[in-house]
Formats: sequence, structure tokens, C-alpha cells
Amino acid sequence: MSGSDALPQIDTSRPHPARVYDWWLGGKDNYPVDEELARRILALDSTAVRGARANRRFMHRAVRTVAEAGTRQFLDIGTGIPTEPNLHQVAQGVAPDARVVYADNDPIVLRHAEALLRGSGEGTTDYVHADVRDAETLLRRAAESLDLTRPVALSLVALTHYLGDEADGDDVHGLLRTYLAALAPGSHLILSQVTADLNPEAVAQAADAFKAGGTPFFPRSITEFQRFFEGLELLGPGVIPVTGWRPEAEDVAAQAEGVVPVYAGVARKP
Ligand SMILES: C[S@@+](CC[C@H](N)C(=O)[O-])C[C@H]1O[C@@H](n2cnc3c(N)ncnc32)[C@H](O)[C@@H]1O
Repeated sequence: MSGSDALPQIDTSRPHPARVYDWWLGGKDNYPVDEELARRILALDSTAVRGARANRRFMHRAVRTVAEAGTRQFLDIGTGIPTEPNLHQVAQGVAPDARVVYADNDPIVLRHAEALLRGSGEGTTDYVHADVRDAETLLRRAAESLDLTRPVALSLVALTHYLGDEADGDDVHGLLRTYLAALAPGSHLILSQVTADLNPEAVAQAADAFKAGGTPFFPRSITEFQRFFEGLELLGPGVIPVTGWRPEAEDVAAQAEGVVPVYAGVARKP
């Protein structure tokens, strides 16, 4: 595991995205302040719990898809609090020698990193405590475990809606281009993020609630989401609401409960 030596403090005075999401997924690694915001957002957007579960299942399907296509290296940024099966379990379920590097900037995820590293197959699993916006550090640390001259699946699942555009000082599209430029041809991008296209009022209110809780939140339109994949080859069925991406039985059942405002897509770097 790499990162800072002293464990950073967990701030229980304000909600954190990883812990709010954990509450929606039925986890126990959250504090009253997180539960309060998770419940408030759920009251505004009744799809929050279904959306979190659907998003998690998308991660499973996408990782299996690229592992079955031959990918043996994964860089998962914005990993979140462990929720089984975790990405390395899915990847190593297909290919026991798959290598996985997890990264997140939340101290609570760092505390749980050991759980993420447990039970690896023949492959290795590592954890980096870093902010996605520090691409240079993150890529350097990832390169300690992964061979960046060979294909890597870069997954940013339910992360980019916490990052702003150029005008907000984050330039999330430029950031993704930086990561992709560092990856070899044959690498994949696995992406999902919240949109206001499908459920505009509820999502706008939920975004305001996140912001009021101290977390900037940026839903994106389909056009803005598609821009993340510029220069890449989208795998079928392309960019689509998350339950529609190569759905399995549970996703088909979830579709019947209504759309969740999350776009998903997977693409290959030519
Ligand atoms: C909604 S969770 C998604 C977890 C997991 N990827 C999934 O989809 O199941 C978002 C994660 O992104 C992390 N995150 C948010 N902003 C980040 C940043 N600037 N750098 C690194 N991680 C970040 C949060 O700490 C949280 O764990």
C-alpha cells in the first residue's frame, strides 16, 4: 500500500461522498451526518438507492467484460468503501493473475484498504491514497504495480460528477485526456456518472443538497458525458442509462422500476 505514512483524520462533522454512497448501499461505514444527507437526497430523488445498486452492478459487468476481453491490469480511481464483490474480486474471478490498483482520496477508504487488498488471487492488489486531480502522482504510484506500457482498464465509476469543468477549476475532460494519454493502446475506459437529463428536478435538488453539505456536484448531459470518450472506440451498446449497459436479469428487473439518472459507457483506446 502506498500513500502518506500517518493516517489522515476522518472528519465526522460533514458528510463525505464515499460514506453517503455506503449508506445507500446498505453499508455500516458511515456516520450520522452521512446518513442524514443520504436520507435527505433519497427524499428528493427516490432513485438514489436503486441508482447506487445499479451503478455497482454496472462496475461488475464492465470489469468482467474487459477482463474476458483479455485485460489483466486495472486502475480504479474513486474506489469507495469496500462492498463485496469488489473490483479485484470480479477481475480476478475471470483472470486470477489480474493486477489491480485502487485509489481514493477519502481517509475512510484508506482505513478500509486492507479489506480491499485481502483475498487477492495470484494477481496483486494495491492501494494509493491520492486525489484523482493529481494525475502525475497517481500515475507514478500506479506504475509501481502496473506496467503502463501494456493495456490497463481505467475505471472512474461514479466519480466524475464530483469534478467540475475547466471554468470550475477542475477541467475534468482535460484530466481524463491526461490519464488516457498515459495508457497503452488496447486500454479501456470504464465510466459512469449522474445526469440531470433523465430526472432533472430531482437531480438538481440532490446536487444542491450535496453542495450544501460541502461536496461540489456536477451532473452532466449526454453530450458532456460522451465527450469523455472522444478518440476512443465505444463498446456496444455505447453510452446508455446504467441499467441498459449489457443488462443481466437483475438489471432487466431494475429497468421495470424506472430509469435511474446515471449514464454509463465503456470504450477502448485504439
Ligand atoms: C460514489 S463513490 C463510488 C465508489 C465506486 N467507484 C462505485 O462506483 O461503486 C465515489 C468515490 O469517489 C471518491 N472521490 C471523490 N472525489 C475524489 C477525488 N477528487 N479523488 C479521488 N477520489 C475521489 C469518493 O471518496 C468515493 O469513494
